Amino acid sequence: MTENEELIMSGVKPAGARIKVRVPGTSANCGPGFDCLGLACSIYNDLELTLLREPKLIVETTGEGAESVPTDDKNIVWRSIKMLLERTKSGAEFKGAVIKMENHIPMSRGLGSSAAAIVAGLKAANAIVGSPFNRQELLQLATDIEGHPDNVAPALLGGFTVSVMDHGKVQTLSFLPKIPMNFVLAVPDFPLPTWQARQVLPKEVAMKDAVFNISRASMMVAALIKGKERFFKNVFDDAIHQPYRKDLIPGLREAIDSARKAGAIGAALSGAGPAVIAFTVEKQHIANDIASAMAQAFASKNVKAKAMILKLDTRGAHII
Ligand code: HSE
Repeated sequence: MTENEELIMSGVKPAGARIKVRVPGTSANCGPGFDCLGLACSIYNDLELTLLREPKLIVETTGEGAESVPTDDKNIVWRSIKMLLERTKSGAEFKGAVIKMENHIPMSRGLGSSAAAIVAGLKAANAIVGSPFNRQELLQLATDIEGHPDNVAPALLGGFTVSVMDHGKVQTLSFLPKIPMNFVLAVPDFPLPTWQARQVLPKEVAMKDAVFNISRASMMVAALIKGKERFFKNVFDDAIHQPYRKDLIPGLREAIDSARKAGAIGAALSGAGPAVIAFTVEKQHIANDIASAMAQAFASKNVKAKAMILKLDTRGAHII
């Protein structure tokens, strides 16, 4: 038997085997669900991965952020791949990779570009070495790398996700709402790194603010699952992160208010921002109205914002 045949028999694809995965963008928090709620949306990054035996790294990126993606050991896709390979017997023989990314998810805007990169790397490397990790194990690895689960969970699983952390262990349930929704995103033309948006948060919050958020996040999940549209009123509001972040994002309050006025059932900062996500159960023309209202609201504060109308992604990361 040749070396490659032995690898194939053991479920490991031989070095040089190529795999392509598609990973959705994500929006975390959904207003009140700070660090626990998330959703996957219909905008994608594709990764074509080839693992190499020699210690050589080639990174080629096209699309969003292509000019700023590191091509060395700092590359987050490669760091995630290495993390997975180091934890498997079969992976240890791979020392390098060719990483080709086609990015559509805007970077550092609150749409989960780093989560998509992590999940893409893990999903592709896992498939090449014969899938030794199940979804739960991939989710745990991805959460360990990202530091919080609310973007990596929907990126991996699709749909809406609820995640709980317990002593570093993540548990996630993904579900599809009974009501089809459109998401209107207004994406400002400036980046906001998550670490910066987390620095302004308080260490502790008041009990009334905690109750404000817990009640809304719980109602949102119940209303989505039961398809009770009338219970959505005010459930996308938040008292524990957006008020502290508003000075980092000129036009945030105005964009949220204008989305509501234009017919959205609610709007919130997407993840750590600066993008704002509006939720609508209405037809396309209402989504268009919301999109231009949000772009204008940002413009009134001298912020240029691109609007996008997206749907829920129900598959999560998958091999293509
Ligand atoms: N829950 C995180 C935050 C999401 O709001 O900081 C970051 O994308």
